Amino acid sequence: MSTEEEYILELNNVTRSFGERDEEVCVLENIDLKIKKGEFVAIVGFSGTGKSTLINLMGGLLPPSTGDVLCKGAPVVGPSPDRGVIFQNYSLLPWLSVAGNVGLAVNQIYKDKSKQERQELIEKYVDMVGLYPAIDKKPKELSGGMRQRVSVARALSMDPEILLMDEPLSALDALTRSVLQDQILDIWKQTGKTIVLITNDVDEGLYMADRIIPLKIGPNASLGPSFEINMPRPRDRKSMNHDADFKKLRASVKKFLNDEKAKEKEANASSESYPLPDLEPVSV
Ligand SMILES: Nc1ncnc2c1ncn2[C@@H]1O[C@H](COP(=O)(O)OP(=O)(O)OP(=O)(O)O)[C@@H](O)[C@H]1O
Ligand SMILES: [Mg+2]
Repeated sequence: MSTEEEYILELNNVTRSFGERDEEVCVLENIDLKIKKGEFVAIVGFSGTGKSTLINLMGGLLPPSTGDVLCKGAPVVGPSPDRGVIFQNYSLLPWLSVAGNVGLAVNQIYKDKSKQERQELIEKYVDMVGLYPAIDKKPKELSGGMRQRVSVARALSMDPEILLMDEPLSALDALTRSVLQDQILDIWKQTGKTIVLITNDVDEGLYMADRIIPLKIGPNASLGPSFEINMPRPRDRKSMNHDADFKKLRASVKKFLNDEKAKEKEANASSESYPLPDLEPVSV
């Protein structure tokens, strides 16, 4: 089987640095990731470790410093409607309403459909994220969680083959968050899309994904081991929490992340101590 058929998204030995010469910081290093069509992969990590950078590389919004990012075997050279990105900072246009922001995507993708059909699509996706009552509101009139839902609706409305989601649910309360998790899972099941979910919540990753991969703490962060989540679907939050295998898996992922944190603390502590030079005092 050729790579093209086997993997929809591939990162081969990818490095990404920021800054010039002396100031250069290597955020991601040795990133190797292969994602199969239809897979749901969660990437979990601490703040500032390079998760958004990773999603931007996959989305074609940032080029790698070295290494290759491939989509269906071809180099990713920029953004594409095949790869819908749900941004962490929502990126809504402030002068457009909810319908207007979702409409931007719908009008771009469904140029051949009539105005009426496009309006119906906009309403469908706004309704899907529970925002129909706020459809005419501007972003400044919405809460953070509502803005996040507009961003989810906009990406879904483009019907991309690959959905790259950068902490799409982090500003939501627990109840809305679990409702949207289930909606995203329904869409994934119905459409067979490939999903990469960035999350800071191990339990969210374990509930939703086929596998969860921790990102190490940088600089020079690389990916940790890929933990397969072999729980049958549809998953039930309550019964999962009582499943011995699941509890073991969750403990392993959390241990990996805690060990990373401990290593970081140790490294910081040693760089903060000022060892004295190894010199004999001179007698005067
Ligand atoms: N355009 C840029 N120029 C310079 N440095 C950058 C740039 N983008 C990101 N960085 C740096 O790269 C590191 C990783 O940033 P990134 O946004 O990818 O982290 P993150 O894991 O998404 O964090 P969070 O969980 O807080 O969203 C940070 O130290 C950040 O300052
Ligand atoms: Mg981020």
